[in-house]
Amino acid sequence: MRLLFLGDMVGRTGRTVVWEKLPGLIEEYGFDFVAVNGENAAGGFGITEEIYLKTIDAGADVVTTGNHVWDQREALSFCERQDRFIRPANFPDGAPGRGSGIYVARNGARVLVTNIMGRIFMSPDLDDPFMTVEKALAACPLGEQADAVVIDFHAEATSEKQCFGHFVDGRASLVVGTHTHIPTADYQILNGGTAYISDAGMCGDYDSSLGMDKEEPINRFVSKIPKGRFEAATGPATLCGVAVEISDRTGLAETIQPLRIGPRLEESLPVF
Ligand SMILES: [Fe+2]
Ligand SMILES: [Fe+2]
Repeated sequence: MRLLFLGDMVGRTGRTVVWEKLPGLIEEYGFDFVAVNGENAAGGFGITEEIYLKTIDAGADVVTTGNHVWDQREALSFCERQDRFIRPANFPDGAPGRGSGIYVARNGARVLVTNIMGRIFMSPDLDDPFMTVEKALAACPLGEQADAVVIDFHAEATSEKQCFGHFVDGRASLVVGTHTHIPTADYQILNGGTAYISDAGMCGDYDSSLGMDKEEPINRFVSKIPKGRFEAATGPATLCGVAVEISDRTGLAETIQPLRIGPRLEESLPVF
């Protein structure tokens, strides 16, 4: 099966490029399953139900999130009724919504998707991401209850991301890093057959600071005195993600290729 993962949509420009381009990409490349990280889709902070629904309408099978998941308070309620919306699985017991789900792809494959947050330079009080993924994989092992396993590992430190990838190597189809908003060049198939990239990059304006208008972040680095709020950048967005070919027989990855379309970064289109 062919899977597309798109990194964090940031602001109006980021979500619009996904809504505009995703239907054509699915058609052109025959993607069987699409996951999109939506944690920054509403002005850079969280996601509304309307944005979530439009992203599903555009062709996403699932929307993952991260540390910004609750920035729009309505997410605390709509996460309960929208079963294609996934918040990090390692929140404390009792958190609303779901941290993983099993979905049927266009080719009939059962895809386990989970979203797990790293703790280094993030929220150290979250549950252990390694034990969290162990539980998710035990409940729905690749090759048994799942034909493919996709893990959005939302983390800051590349060391934690790499170790997490190796930890689940051979037990997941894809470990894709999100959160840092910058695409990395280390996309590869790990020894056990898991496709891996430290960060998919964002879908957003790369003439920015992580998709936010750059003036205020620069001001804070220089003066240490906030002058205003962080606002999402509004220039044309570049779409960033990875396209993965997954074996129907083993559920492991055969290829992982970067996908970048837009005005700022060098274009990269998958070849199948
Ligand atoms: Fe993000
Ligand atoms: Fe994040």
